[in-house]
Amino acid sequence: MKGVSLDTVRTSNATLKNLGPGLVAVFVGGTSGIGESILKAFVGATAASKVYVVGRSQDAANRIIKECRQVNETSEVEFLQADVSEIANVDRVCSDIIQREKRLNLLVLTTGILTVDGRNESPEGLDRKMAVHYYSRMRFISNLLPLLTSSASSSQLSRVMTVLGAGIGNRMVESDLDLKSNFSLSNCGAHCGVMTDLMLERFDATWKGTAFVHTAPGVVKTNLGSGLPTYLRAAFKVAGPLLAPWTVGLQETGERHLFMATSNRYPPSELPNDSSCGAPTEKNGVAEGSDGVRGSGAYLLNWDGQIQKQNRDLLEEYRRTGMAERIWKHTMAVFDSCSKDRNS
Ligand SMILES: NC(=O)c1ccc[n+]([C@@H]2O[C@H](COP(=O)([O-])OP(=O)(O)OC[C@H]3O[C@@H](n4cnc5c(N)ncnc54)[C@H](OP(=O)(O)O)[C@@H]3O)[C@@H](O)[C@H]2O)c1
Repeated sequence: MKGVSLDTVRTSNATLKNLGPGLVAVFVGGTSGIGESILKAFVGATAASKVYVVGRSQDAANRIIKECRQVNETSEVEFLQADVSEIANVDRVCSDIIQREKRLNLLVLTTGILTVDGRNESPEGLDRKMAVHYYSRMRFISNLLPLLTSSASSSQLSRVMTVLGAGIGNRMVESDLDLKSNFSLSNCGAHCGVMTDLMLERFDATWKGTAFVHTAPGVVKTNLGSGLPTYLRAAFKVAGPLLAPWTVGLQETGERHLFMATSNRYPPSELPNDSSCGAPTEKNGVAEGSDGVRGSGAYLLNWDGQIQKQNRDLLEEYRRTGMAERIWKHTMAVFDSCSKDRNS
């Protein structure tokens, strides 16, 4: 299947007002970069939506809230301040949302840090980079799935999107999933990517009315490198123009991710009869899920909506050998241990 044209993306996004009014969305990592651009595309394309933006920077949130008001004054954007490298903070934010909302239509996860530092453990015993790229995102999904399911049960949009490195992660250190002893940047990238690929399938197997999308966004110029040492930032600045042909503009990435998060080209595995729960597909039809089955509810996508298949054999091996199940059990055990430590 070819990449989706920008015209198709825009035509589809222009129909999103038909899904509302009053869609509810949560953007974790929406205070900058790719998350911010998807948030703004969502606010511009929907009617009277309620948006929660989760992050640390109050200044960025104030700016975004102001800009969103100019884009669409019918929408309401609220900031929930949290450092989500700790699961306790994820739980606090989720319980706040659960108290206030009866349903959720869209959960977008884009938190990220780019650092060359080694393992940096939080008091919960997780590396903070792995936490923002993987563990806290999985916790948001698992905490908020009941609200997403309420939307699915009433034939409304119900989608999860996580932006990281879909379908490209290499073999993991299988005996050390949280990289306590084998931490490196490349292992961290592989573990967070592959574990996400397989966890979305596992969520999808149970929560069939929700679609799960993992993307690899390509090269997008954002604030991601701001924490790097000066010499590396200078090197990126020099390399920037060389990467230009492969760079996706910030606004385009927002529009494309909004499409991937809402189009019925990527539907949940159980679509209600009333297919109004996503933007209608055009002639391109329904995409192949990560298991190779069309419309199976969990999707690994490239920057332009194409199916990302680079590590398909590895994922198949991990399903066959029980590694996918081990990843699930490991992740749930980490969450149990974080909760237990908090309550003891
Ligand atoms: N840009 C690219 O070319 C590219 C390529 C491949 C993959 N990706 C992935 O795409 C995702 C988004 O990247 P981006 O380029 O949009 O980065 P970005 O502009 O730096 O945005 C990262 C977001 O994560 C939030 N964040 C980071 N640590 C946090 C924490 N501890 N608690 C709460 N929020 C936190 C930041 O918010 P606060 O500052 O408010 O905390 C910010 O909103 C990342 O996972 C990245 O690895 C990006």
